Amino acid sequence: MMPYTLAFDVYGTLINTSGVHYSLQKIIGEKAQPFMDTWRGKQLEYSFRRALMNLYADFSVCTRQALEYCCAYFQTDLTPEQKDALMAEYSVLPAFTEAEEALISLKKAGHKLFAFSNGSQEAVTTLLSNAQILAYFEGVVSMEDVKTFKPNPAGYAHFNAKTHSQKSTTWLISGNPFDAIGAKAYGMKTAWVQRSPDVIFDPWGMEADIVIGNLTELLDKLLLQNN
Ligand code: 2OP
Repeated sequence: MMPYTLAFDVYGTLINTSGVHYSLQKIIGEKAQPFMDTWRGKQLEYSFRRALMNLYADFSVCTRQALEYCCAYFQTDLTPEQKDALMAEYSVLPAFTEAEEALISLKKAGHKLFAFSNGSQEAVTTLLSNAQILAYFEGVVSMEDVKTFKPNPAGYAHFNAKTHSQKSTTWLISGNPFDAIGAKAYGMKTAWVQRSPDVIFDPWGMEADIVIGNLTELLDKLLLQNN
């Protein structure tokens, strides 16, 4: 089988961010789910706006400022300590349950695995180390290097440059449709991880090359690509 370079998105793809939801639920009850959804949406919106404005800041700034927005929007008076605790949770989130098994089999099949994220080099390295999956990757590539955010094509190009890989033999694996569409538009192959039927792939006329329900399905689907 042809060895590919696999670029794994992190938050929502390798790492399950729902742990923060549980902590939030203990503080604000049933508002936790809409709060989490708005928090993630605003975090990404802030990254898109900063990239367009050429006003780069660490992804954790987008996360924190999105948290502040949600506190105002939902009129929840979280204390500074509670906000700090929620932010600290983002650095110790668990991997999805199937991630380790999938990474082991992909590595054994000869593919080159990298983590590729908006998160800073340090934040992502710490996160994957805490999640006990860092050892399966040849490296971590952060958008911090190019002071912009996904889906800026400069980021995907940087990934190929930094990993000495070609876009034609690189697969971007992401649970985030914006990321898969961005990588596809740049010229990579793309695998969308649709963990829930509720997540809709944006109707841009650009489909992911493969769709998987979880990371263990990736190896076989890549094999089919070769035939
Ligand atoms: C990432 O890890 C934001 O999930 C996206 O880059």
